[in-house]
Amino acid sequence: MIIQPRTRGFICLTAHPDGAAQHIKNQIEYVKSKGKIADGPKKVLVIGASTGFGIASRISAAFGSDAATIGVFFEKPATEGKLGTAGWYNTAAFEKEAQAAGLYAKSINGDAFSDEIKQQTIELIKKDLGQVDLVVYSLASPRRTHPKTGVQHASVLKPIEKPFTDKTVDFHTGVVSDITINPVELEDDINNTVAVMGGEDWKFWIEDLKAAGVLAEGVKTVAYSYIGPELTYPIYRNGTIGRAKDNLEATVPAINALLADINGVSYVSVNKALVTQSSSAIPVVPLYISLLYKVMKEKGIHEGTIEQMQRLFAERLYNNSDLQLDEKGRIRVDDLEMREDVQQEVAELWKKATTENLEEISDIQGYRNDFFQLFGFNFDEIDYEKDTNEVVPVPSIG
Ligand code: NAD
Ligand code: NA
Repeated sequence: MIIQPRTRGFICLTAHPDGAAQHIKNQIEYVKSKGKIADGPKKVLVIGASTGFGIASRISAAFGSDAATIGVFFEKPATEGKLGTAGWYNTAAFEKEAQAAGLYAKSINGDAFSDEIKQQTIELIKKDLGQVDLVVYSLASPRRTHPKTGVQHASVLKPIEKPFTDKTVDFHTGVVSDITINPVELEDDINNTVAVMGGEDWKFWIEDLKAAGVLAEGVKTVAYSYIGPELTYPIYRNGTIGRAKDNLEATVPAINALLADINGVSYVSVNKALVTQSSSAIPVVPLYISLLYKVMKEKGIHEGTIEQMQRLFAERLYNNSDLQLDEKGRIRVDDLEMREDVQQEVAELWKKATTENLEEISDIQGYRNDFFQLFGFNFDEIDYEKDTNEVVPVPSIG
């Protein structure tokens, strides 16, 4: 079929398999261009492995360190007449490239919050790898069915104490307007968001993997967090999602205790703000990102997800010397985003930003480009008028 982008708000309903494959190829090329990661991971489990930071982590491990990878995700397969989701096509392309490079790669498509998928993953590790030496936890989801209680938790993106009013942008049209987001009315909203995006499921994974004996001596595990600038605090770090991130970060000591007898260690890495399917859903943040991109590109310090994850692996997790952590024990690869000169310039642009000057003072074009590339669109190499086969299997799944 002819596959073109079709959007509804911050969601793109279509995805292009050849474009997704190009996206994966570009990321692999980048990782290869940086050379091998010294003493990198060898057997890696990535939970949330199909898009965003997760696929970039998987590519960094595989092509930066020749790692065997198992990826867990929740995507829609491609079938006759029905497009698969972007993460499906990403994985199809990744597995194909991994196979061609002689690297083990298998995937599991299902609800990572469930006990069943955890057990299925454990069986696969036992059968094929024996143990894993790195577990990346990169889930981002709007909901979670709790495996012990059966309760369905839905996360919300809201401030906590008072209404928050600030600028936001519709990144399709470039219209900048004020938005007011009312605070949570019920403590339940906070609890539900923590249940979905907090650290409990990460801990459940590590508990199950440990009990099954599939974690190697010296195993590392990392989960991803975000802080960002003060201007997004009300909606992000001090909002419901921030409470979930606080909870995720507070899970580190408990996981370290679980791993102590096998000399394992857990980390939270605070990553840079980037265009992903998850971040485009957060009000206010897309305008911040488009100003941030402008400033960071001008300074020559812009990074995408693959640059971030390659650097996390090569210069933080596997740097062979003392790992620098912040006062709360976190890895920081948002260091360039949070640089004072960067934040000051973004704050000045923020005050000025209007619909009229947006194209000029921000990198809204770069935002849009990244957004469409998440779904395999906007690649020069791809002919989007061409009839394309929508049925692309993930080799290990079918
Ligand atoms: P993303 O939406 O691109 O990726 C989410 C992944 O989770 C996908 O692989 C998806 O298939 C998987 N997933 C979702 N629900 C699932 C389920 N029930 N079972 C199995 N898999 C499921 O998101 P992302 O932006 O890469 O986010 C990953 C992590 O990075 C999150 O913790 C996020 O908060 C964090 N982070 C994001 C940013 C940013 O700017 N995007 C910045 C810092 C940290
Ligand atoms: Na991810």
